[in-house]
Amino acid sequence: MMNVTEAVRSRAACRAFLDRPVPAAVLRTLVETALRAPSGGNLQPWHVHVLTGAAKARLTASVMEAFQRTPAGEPDHDPQIYPEPLGEPYKTRRAVCGAMLYDALKIPREDKMGRIRQALKNYEFFGAPVGLIFTAPAGMVEGQAVDMGILMQTVMLLAREQGLDTCPQAIWRMWPKAIAAALGLGEGIHVLGGMSLGYADAASPVATLNIPRDGLDVLATFHSE
Ligand SMILES: Cc1cc2nc3c(=O)[nH]c(=O)nc-3n(C[C@H](O)[C@H](O)[C@H](O)COP(=O)(O)O)c2cc1C
Repeated sequence: MMNVTEAVRSRAACRAFLDRPVPAAVLRTLVETALRAPSGGNLQPWHVHVLTGAAKARLTASVMEAFQRTPAGEPDHDPQIYPEPLGEPYKTRRAVCGAMLYDALKIPREDKMGRIRQALKNYEFFGAPVGLIFTAPAGMVEGQAVDMGILMQTVMLLAREQGLDTCPQAIWRMWPKAIAAALGLGEGIHVLGGMSLGYADAASPVATLNIPRDGLDVLATFHSE
């Protein structure tokens, strides 16, 4: 069985999946185990919507319909996916990961429609058989966003153990109303993100991009004196 280091090192944002279902028992155990993730004060400020089949298709249809009306996202969606303006070194890191994605797909910078078509694949969970939507009650603060990140990474690592791949997706945050309509969410429920989950299409250039990381010298300081 895969150890944790292997799970961390082999996890990558996968943007191409096989049309192969994830067994329901595997999915259930994975989510149940992930819900062991810690949260500050054990608030467990989350709800995981696990979508397959017609329910997943309904979500895609609802968001695509909203996209036709307002392509830049719902008018009053939470705009804070990234800080505005995004300063350095973050801007360059983001640009590098975008360039690597479009280079792998051979979509040139001028091909705006090609880039939009690729971005829209987010809403089909990149062909994955399972889509996850992570929600939290409105009014939660930064601390609970940290909790949600821990839960999402726990799902991603457990997925590796099962031979599954994932793509975390902040883009779903642009469509809170369309998602609420498709999932029947009540008032006061906040969409914090989504995730594609399934078996990677290893033949695709975007199954794994090997996005680089800065090193320990930049991102960590070991204090000893
Ligand atoms: C919270 C979060 C949100 C993300 N949102 C998206 C998204 O909406 N669409 C997408 O294609 N990738 C998304 N990503 C994937 C990142 O671009 C990717 O993790 C990053 O470039 C590092 O690459 P790697 O995961 O392959 O190592 C997201 C990642 C995280 C952690």
